[in-house]
Amino acid sequence: MSNEIDKLKDAILKKGNLPTHVAIIMDGNGRWAKRRGLPRIAGHKAGVKAVKRVVEAAGELGISILTLFTFSHENWKRPKQEVSAIMKLLYETTKREINELDKNNVKLITTGRIEELSPQRRDILEKAREQTKDNTGLILNLALNYGGRTEILDAVKLIAREVKQGKLDIDDLNEENFAKYLYTNGLPDPDLLIRTSGEKRISNFLLWQTSYTELYITDVLWPNFTAKDFYEAIWDYQNRERRFGRV
Ligand code: FPP
Repeated sequence: MSNEIDKLKDAILKKGNLPTHVAIIMDGNGRWAKRRGLPRIAGHKAGVKAVKRVVEAAGELGISILTLFTFSHENWKRPKQEVSAIMKLLYETTKREINELDKNNVKLITTGRIEELSPQRRDILEKAREQTKDNTGLILNLALNYGGRTEILDAVKLIAREVKQGKLDIDDLNEENFAKYLYTNGLPDPDLLIRTSGEKRISNFLLWQTSYTELYITDVLWPNFTAKDFYEAIWDYQNRERRFGRV
C-alpha cells in the first residue's frame, strides 16, 4: 500500500507541473459521523486528522499554497452548539499544532472577516500568524468566516471609498488591481479546487479567484481523505490541459 503511494508521489514529482495553489472544500464531516451513529462534532474531530494528513502531504510535494475552507459565513447558521464546537476545535488545534507547523517552515495565514471573531480567538490566530510570518515553506491559508460574495462586496466598498477620497481613478481599475482589494490580496488564484463528499457546488468559495481553476470532486468524505487521495487529485490535475479560454 505505502509502496503504491510512494510510486504515485514519485510520478507526481517527475511530471513536474505541480499546482502552485490548491484549495479544498472539506465536506462530509457530518455524514461521516452520522454513518457511525456519532455526534456531528466527532466528524469534525476526525476532519482535523485529515487536515494534518493533507498539510503534511502538500508540504512533502512542495506545494506553495494550501487554502482550506474551514468556516464559512453561512456556517454561523448551524446550531449554536455545533458552531462553538467547531470554533473550539479550530483554536485548540491551532494552539496545539503551531510549534510543529513552525518547525516545518509552514506559514499560517487567514482569509475572511477575522475581525468579527471574538478577541480571544483572533488573538490565537494573530499569534500563530506572527510566529510563522517569516517561514518560507508551505503557506497554509485558513478561510475563516469567509464568504465569496461578501468578499467581493467588501472589495467594492473599499474601492468606492478610495474613489470618493480621490485616491483611485475609476478608469484605472482592472482585474489585477481589483484582486488586491479581495481578502486574498496578493495570493495567486488556486490552480486546483478539491471538493470532498461528492457535492457539485462552489458554495460561495473564492468566487472571483476560481474563474479558471480546475475542479476535482471526489466522493470520499473529508475525515476519510488520505495523502493518497490528495496525490490522486494532484495527478489528475497534472494530466489535464488548461486553456484559459484559448484553443
Ligand atoms: C464540512 O462538513 C466541514 C466543516 C464545515 C468544518 C470543517 C472544519 C474542520 C475540519 C476543523 C478545522 C480545523 C483546522 C485546524 C483547519 P459538514 O459538517 O458540512 O459535513 P456534512 O455535509 O456531511 O454535514
